Amino acid sequence: VPPPITLVILGASGDLTHRLLLPGLGTLLRAKPAYDVHLVGAAAADMTADEWRDRVRGGLEEGGCRRQRADDMAAASTFVHLDVTDPKEMQTFLDAQAAQGRPIVLYFALPPAVTQKSIGVLSGLNLPPDIRLALEKPFGSSLATAKELNALLAGFIPEDRLFRVDHYLGKATVLNLLGLRFGNRIFEPVWNAANIERVEIIADEALALEGRAGYYDHAGALKDMIQSHLMLVMAIFAMEQPARIDAVELRDLIVHTLRSTRLWAGEGERSSHRARYTAGSIDGRQVPDYVAEPGVDPERMTETLAQVTLEIHNARWAGVPFRLRSGKALGDGFRGIVVQFRPVAHLPVGFHNEAAPNVLVIGFTPETLALRVTTNAEGDRWDLETSTLSTQLGESPVRPYGEILDEILTGNMLLGVRGDMAEESWRILDPLLQEWADGVVPMDSYSAGSYGPQAWNDAPGA
Ligand code: BG6
Repeated sequence: VPPPITLVILGASGDLTHRLLLPGLGTLLRAKPAYDVHLVGAAAADMTADEWRDRVRGGLEEGGCRRQRADDMAAASTFVHLDVTDPKEMQTFLDAQAAQGRPIVLYFALPPAVTQKSIGVLSGLNLPPDIRLALEKPFGSSLATAKELNALLAGFIPEDRLFRVDHYLGKATVLNLLGLRFGNRIFEPVWNAANIERVEIIADEALALEGRAGYYDHAGALKDMIQSHLMLVMAIFAMEQPARIDAVELRDLIVHTLRSTRLWAGEGERSSHRARYTAGSIDGRQVPDYVAEPGVDPERMTETLAQVTLEIHNARWAGVPFRLRSGKALGDGFRGIVVQFRPVAHLPVGFHNEAAPNVLVIGFTPETLALRVTTNAEGDRWDLETSTLSTQLGESPVRPYGEILDEILTGNMLLGVRGDMAEESWRILDPLLQEWADGVVPMDSYSAGSYGPQAWNDAPGA
């Protein structure tokens, strides 16, 4: 049974708490009812204690937590008005929490700028000895700022009590990469440049801005999705085999892979593309030009779609482009990994046509696996045709944020982003940020609801 713990959510009135944290916690509590979690909500003056408790009840129930449990947790939870950037208020708050005698997790569910300020404040306070922090991305905005942030954090909290959240590490599909690769005889021997021609990791979203301009217009697709989520997925896809699945080994191997990674400099394609959506319709809903969305400043030149091609420069992968792409307001909203194998080394004379190369598709939502294989055709036996072996995997009962909270509440670091992981991914992207700032890479456009700029899809290898 996990020991009793206090989970303090800073940013109790925010979107993340409402949409992801509380429902995620609800799924966790349904799967592991033994958790004894005391919830504390803290927010600036825009919420009341009653509103907070309603939110807790509603959020937990949405995640499937039993009604009685949700009611009890909501009733027992406390709420405080707190300015997280005020040292005095923060010290008084932390002292009061520490006096309860339970270990404390401080979860920053706040806008990046507020989190940053608050961390600066925390660094000068007397913290309860067993406090743990949970932080949301971004972990910096360049290699230099990522290093600064890590140095600031290292000055007052040990790395093993600092949980950097990337909810993609809580996704069953992402963790299933480990089972797929290392639990089968047939994949690992061909998981290399000799057999794989290219890999695409795609997170296209049909959703547009959804009122998040305040955050998104400062981030953009590259920082919002690629620097964080998709580069981690790539590293898990490509890393060497761990001796055991634990927080040191797994994260060492992720960093090891990222260290070999650099922007694509090979033949055939540019290392990056960027674009912004213009007006269009998504599922019958009219979406305006991105630059006309409330809160967007066109001068910021924020991209709503980015594509970055990377090379993992090691013996296993050198020469294989890894294309990472993510954006908003996109047609089919495909999310997953497409593994394109090389053609067979040799086809016997006598077949009427070429064998189409194998393709493995690992879909994120819904979780699917599909392998394209070549067989003799039914009609003419020396014609070759393709068919697809596919399966849909069962949905995990615990949502990604539930898995992440499970780790945070038990003090396990396996699914947390280590400081050096964040730094490595910024190191890889730094030259690209410079190119974008210098205007070397054009800002293309695509209409909302389309599949992105046509020209990208016609690029060699598409
Ligand atoms: C978040 C991004 O980290 O991930 C959002 O900030 C994005 O912009 C979301 O929509 C996507 O997560 P998921 O789990 O729906 O793929």
